Amino acid sequence: MRMILLGPPGVGKGTQGGFIARRYGIPHVSTGDMLRAAVRAGSRLGLEAKRHMDAGGLLPDRVIIELVAQRIREADCDAGFLLDGYPRTVVQAQAMAAAGIEIDIVVEFWLTLEELLRRSSGRLVHPASGRTYHAVFNPPKAPGKDDISGEELVQRADDRPDAAASRLEVHNQHAPALVEHYTARIARGEPGAPRYVRISAEGPVAAVRDRLFETLGAHPGVALI
Ligand code: AP5
Repeated sequence: MRMILLGPPGVGKGTQGGFIARRYGIPHVSTGDMLRAAVRAGSRLGLEAKRHMDAGGLLPDRVIIELVAQRIREADCDAGFLLDGYPRTVVQAQAMAAAGIEIDIVVEFWLTLEELLRRSSGRLVHPASGRTYHAVFNPPKAPGKDDISGEELVQRADDRPDAAASRLEVHNQHAPALVEHYTARIARGEPGAPRYVRISAEGPVAAVRDRLFETLGAHPGVALI
């Protein structure tokens, strides 16, 4: 199973991605998580990534295309993977197609602007593990502390209001063409075109998860395990 998750910042891709990866037994390949790990490691990629991420912009296509190409060549991706946060531009989608990487299904989440802002403004993360909480919707057991390690939770730099607004704007610039890239392939009846589903991300985490699995279960060729 090769799956892509699309949707605006804060819609819940990372949260639902965890459920999908466990359900299908595939690695959850999140470009945001990979870049945040590079920032923590202080690598050259991390230094470049931090500049773009903190401002709410995108990394150059050539950098991210190479990063993902390397990751999905790893053995654990042989039987499939879930891409979360990639592709974000048509150039990235075309690079995957040009490399002969076929996708089985694209899932696009949507949500109202008001709810998106509520979700990203309340997000708290444990930097070392990437575990994500929400101050109201998914609070940690002890305020401000990671449930497992007890370490301090922080707000992501790109969840501050100015960077969050830029991320949303960047998303809105690129998303329509990306959606069109996939839906047009389907409309043309192209062999190898992925299935495409659009799902509301409204409601509690478990309700979104159940809606997602129900939708995926209804798609021929997408076997739930
Ligand atoms: P990335 O980390 O991918 O950011 P994003 O796509 O903006 O997505 P988010 O992580 O903000 O949100 P999410 O949809 O995963 O929501 P989450 O589950 O956390 O990328 C970060 C940056 O890296 C980019 O801005 C860019 O600079 C760079 N980058 C990454 N990929 C790139 C690419 N391909 N090309 C170029 N640059 C790239 O949930 C959000 C909050 O809501 C959490 O607090 C969660 O607990 C809560 N929540 C989730 N679901 C629910 C629910 N149903 N009800 C209530 N609360 C919920």
